[in-house]
Amino acid sequence: MTPVEQIKEKLDIVEFIRGYIPIQPAGKNFKALCPFHKEKTPSFIISPDRQTWHCFGSCSEGGDIFKFLMKYENLEFYEALKILSEKAGIELKKISPIEQRQFDVLYEINEAAKNLFKKNLKENKEATDYLINRGLKNEIIEEFEIGYAFPEFDKLTMALIKEGFNVRDIERAGLNFKTEKGGYVDRFRGRIMFPIFNHFGKAIGFSARILPKYDTGEIGKYINSPETPIFNKSKILYGFHKSKNFIREENKAVLMEGQMDFLMSWQDGVKNSIATSGTALTQDHLKVLRRQTDNLAFCFDNDEAGLKAAERSIDLANSLDFNVSLLIIKDAKDPAELVLKKPSQLKELVSNAQSSMEFYFSRYLTEDAKDLRMLKNSIRIILAKIKNLSPIEQSHWLHELSIKSGVKEEALIDEIKQLKTEKISGQFFQKTAVQKQNNNFSRKELIAQRLLSLAVAKKDFHNQLKQCFDYLPKNYLMIAENIMDKNSQKKFNDADLDELFNLISLRSSFESGSDEEKLDSECLELTKQLRLEHLKEKREELMKSIKKAERDNDEDTAQKLLKEFDEISKIMHN
Ligand code: UTP
Ligand code: MN
Repeated sequence: MTPVEQIKEKLDIVEFIRGYIPIQPAGKNFKALCPFHKEKTPSFIISPDRQTWHCFGSCSEGGDIFKFLMKYENLEFYEALKILSEKAGIELKKISPIEQRQFDVLYEINEAAKNLFKKNLKENKEATDYLINRGLKNEIIEEFEIGYAFPEFDKLTMALIKEGFNVRDIERAGLNFKTEKGGYVDRFRGRIMFPIFNHFGKAIGFSARILPKYDTGEIGKYINSPETPIFNKSKILYGFHKSKNFIREENKAVLMEGQMDFLMSWQDGVKNSIATSGTALTQDHLKVLRRQTDNLAFCFDNDEAGLKAAERSIDLANSLDFNVSLLIIKDAKDPAELVLKKPSQLKELVSNAQSSMEFYFSRYLTEDAKDLRMLKNSIRIILAKIKNLSPIEQSHWLHELSIKSGVKEEALIDEIKQLKTEKISGQFFQKTAVQKQNNNFSRKELIAQRLLSLAVAKKDFHNQLKQCFDYLPKNYLMIAENIMDKNSQKKFNDADLDELFNLISLRSSFESGSDEEKLDSECLELTKQLRLEHLKEKREELMKSIKKAERDNDEDTAQKLLKEFDEISKIMHN
């Protein structure tokens, strides 16, 4: 047995998930409100038989106990393995020493590098002065373990090798790279080093700002560690390990662009913040935040790039049902500068945040927008944003827009109806993801899935299912036989088939709650539809053969096939 199998055998997924979210029985399975998206009725199903979970709501995700923990706690596989093996009482050392070492050493190297950088900073007045001049206090430098990388080629690599690390591991940790000549060069040189911590507070990478005197303008002002097995950029938010409790307490997260912004705001007493630090805001980031709060305030740089980033982020967050607001910074280029120039103003800004629609009004209904063509364009943009909101909010903002723009409300309502929702980024992504999921299955397959789910939920349907055997696609036939076989192992060797069976079993939980009569009529309807799909397919095949016979001038065959075609058509119409 592999370690993963061992763990799964020892830990019950139902009890495990119950430790995270409230769950309730649903037939043989359990259901809950999906923790990975916002919903009012439970579509998150857990199967004790199969030790799996699946969300039948908009996120349509699923998996085993590992996948759940990884998603819920935002962990990489190895981290989840560590936690679960401990819980299962399996000593990890026995698991796979080589694999374990590969990960552990990456944490160790980042930790060692962090300590070396910290030491360097203490010894280098220039670097320390730079930070102090930017307004950072010593206690914050200590708290966030900021350091300094010397400008020399391989100082860090040499120091780490001296501590006993392998040069190739240092490369895997992203701290150096190989030159064409085969030597190793430190990735970060002459830079202020901001360690990036995972959400448990372990250093997993760095963001590094060039010290002005080394800035040739050739390489980025900031560079970050590359993605490694322990550092996934689209998931990590800078500062989150420290601020998550503040975010929960305040029930609001303030999102900024840079780590300097975050640190200065922390110093200024606004501690419920985080920074994306050089990557665009992603759905993964938002899922992490959702567990602490539904309220997001964006505080981006006061320039066109910042406004564009704000707009993109607002749309994404709105489409995921966050309450979004904005802090508008004046007289400073970004939050860090604001704190430096006007201490304790940021707190005020947070309590006076603008709603996202107010932001769009002031961004698009400018003086320039007085000209009719410009106005029309601006209104369209704003309407597209409004369309992204809930119906009640929509009605409120249409009214406001009418007042602000002088355009009659009825005209705005007409116009908004004609707009396609697909235009908006966040929702667009979500919709296509769901569509893609469904598109993978033909109509016939979808019908078969529902029918089989019914048969799992209720033995009475087995007879009806049996009558459909001729119409079922091959995979589904195998699953149907498995469902009806009392002695079956309920596990397929084929991964795809097993996955499909899993989906069907989990879906059955939705059926078992409904009332009997409805189920009976649904089963009848499904068998009818399945047969219809089958006939449709047959008719299409016949059509092809007929065309071929005609091409071959084979009158007899064509006539015979045509007769069959008519018969099938007749059955279908009845
Ligand atoms: P900014 O250029 O606004 O950074 O980029 P900043 O914090 O204001 O910079 P200084 O130190 O005050 O001059 C915002 C964030 O985008 C990332 C960094 O994480 C930065 O904090 N960034 C910026 C990069 O990754 N690379 C770059 O070249 C620039
Ligand atoms: Mn900035």
